[in-house]
Amino acid sequence: MPHADTSLVPSTITSKSQFWDHVHTQLALLLEGQRHWVTNLANAASLIYNSLLAFPVHFGSGDRAVNWCGFYIISCLLPEPQFTSNNGSSVLQNKNRLLLGPFCGKPACQFINVAPDNARGVCADAFVQTKTILVQEVDGYPGHIACDGDTKSEIVCPLILRTGDSQLVMGVLDLDCLALSGFDEEDQAGLSKIAELIVDSCDW
Ligand code: SME
Repeated sequence: MPHADTSLVPSTITSKSQFWDHVHTQLALLLEGQRHWVTNLANAASLIYNSLLAFPVHFGSGDRAVNWCGFYIISCLLPEPQFTSNNGSSVLQNKNRLLLGPFCGKPACQFINVAPDNARGVCADAFVQTKTILVQEVDGYPGHIACDGDTKSEIVCPLILRTGDSQLVMGVLDLDCLALSGFDEEDQAGLSKIAELIVDSCDW
């Protein structure tokens, strides 16, 4: 099967739970044999985004379409060059931020602060609180960062790497929708399983 066809949604799929199971299966197939996180996150963003657009029962095109799907990743995985100040001395960049990773959609903010004193927005909250955040109306969410004024609702899942008793949040999976209340608890359940699959499929 051509890789692009993994984002097709058969007409036999009619419910959200069937849809998310299908996307999970397709993603597992796509990621098989590859453990680099850049490669896997790039195809994960594309698969989720295009599958949502291909599922008109609940999402589809028009004013209910998904508007963005992608990742923000802890900055130590995406090393930034040292910044040299005017007086020639070298200072390290603030590492307390998430950097934009692979995504599908229009350009988005380059980084998101997650340091305790200036964390702001849905992605930062999902990252810091280590839990999925479902936002029915972004304009009513305190600190929401509007990368695109057309987005009306959003869901953000943390990518949690679990090793024994410890856990490390590697970043977040962020989805935006053009409609109010574009995502619900069924999407949250489906995306949480997909986030787990993505974490388990990569060497971080
Ligand atoms: N709205 C997000 C920022 C990322 S964009 O939606 C792609 C936030 O509040 O963290």
